[in-house]
Amino acid sequence: MKTARGPEKRYRGKTNNIARKNNYHYACMIPASAAKRSPFRRIAYMRGNIKWLVVIAITFLLFVMNSRVFFPSFIIKRGNTFNLSNVSEEARDLVLAEETEIDLEELALLEDKEIDLQGEIVEATHGMEIEAKYSAVDILAATQPNGSGEGHAAEGETVEFSQDDWKLLLINKQHSIPEGYEFPLGDIQTMKGTMQCDARIIDDLLEMLQDAKEDDIILKICSPYRDLAYQELLFNKKIDWYMRRGMSYVEAYRLGSRIVAVPAASEHRLGLALDIVSDTYIGLDEGFADTPAGKWLAENSYKYGFLLRYPKGKEDITGINYEPWHFRYVGVDAAKVITERGITLEEFWEELWEE
Ligand code: DAL
Ligand code: ZN
Repeated sequence: MKTARGPEKRYRGKTNNIARKNNYHYACMIPASAAKRSPFRRIAYMRGNIKWLVVIAITFLLFVMNSRVFFPSFIIKRGNTFNLSNVSEEARDLVLAEETEIDLEELALLEDKEIDLQGEIVEATHGMEIEAKYSAVDILAATQPNGSGEGHAAEGETVEFSQDDWKLLLINKQHSIPEGYEFPLGDIQTMKGTMQCDARIIDDLLEMLQDAKEDDIILKICSPYRDLAYQELLFNKKIDWYMRRGMSYVEAYRLGSRIVAVPAASEHRLGLALDIVSDTYIGLDEGFADTPAGKWLAENSYKYGFLLRYPKGKEDITGINYEPWHFRYVGVDAAKVITERGITLEEFWEELWEE
């Protein structure tokens, strides 16, 4: 080993004195001392000092093991799923956003037949599997319509629509539920339990269930009124579903919010929307549109004030995927105009009240 000279000798002398007093200081002196040496002399010095080499190697190893830069190498990839058990939420997002190669559009199309984490194809639930479904038979056996519906204009009468009308309230990603929004929450008794929605729409709903039944269509209601906590639960489940399959939070949010409305913008929270299927087809998927019940609803629901709210081909306007099962009460007059003209509630608002 070469002997140090001049200023370097004095510098080394000082650092060695400090280091001798305390082991901690000794460790701190390593980078200070190393910084002072030329690269060649540093290497020559290291060769003769195995202790230093070991300390530096351990320090480097600790850095690597804790660094997020190297994090993905610790994740075990199995097919298109990941072992994430020891990964923090934050790191998981980072890793999954960068590391996976997933066709997002393809994944979105899987909605009707979801693939679970084991790779099995399962029925799409849209987070609704925990919800009860109420058959029109069980509803009408307990509660009959009594003619107290909202009514409508006479044939040929001019209708003036108002943007302050509760029936026409526009809720979507651009228009969230007004703060402090209140409405009369009503109970519908059924033979299997009680469901809730805006009390003002109950009679028209019962009329629709009864008339469908007379046409041998037994409708089933699920997801009438949802409170904020429940909508949040459904929404978070949907986001989680995508993230567990490799999407970043942003992508999961983008796709998930086309299927389950963001909690601030779900019409179910207004008590004005219902998901309606039938006793023979309970899937919340596009196939419902081709069933007798799906067709009956698409053709007749407007007569009772209900609107197929998220139609096919209008996804860019509503911000929600096609949902042939989601019906929104807007009152008979508006439902008639909107359905006959084949427009959405957004377009109706735009024509009447927006530039
Ligand atoms: N599925 C509709 C968009 C909702 O969650 O309100
Ligand atoms: Zn719905």
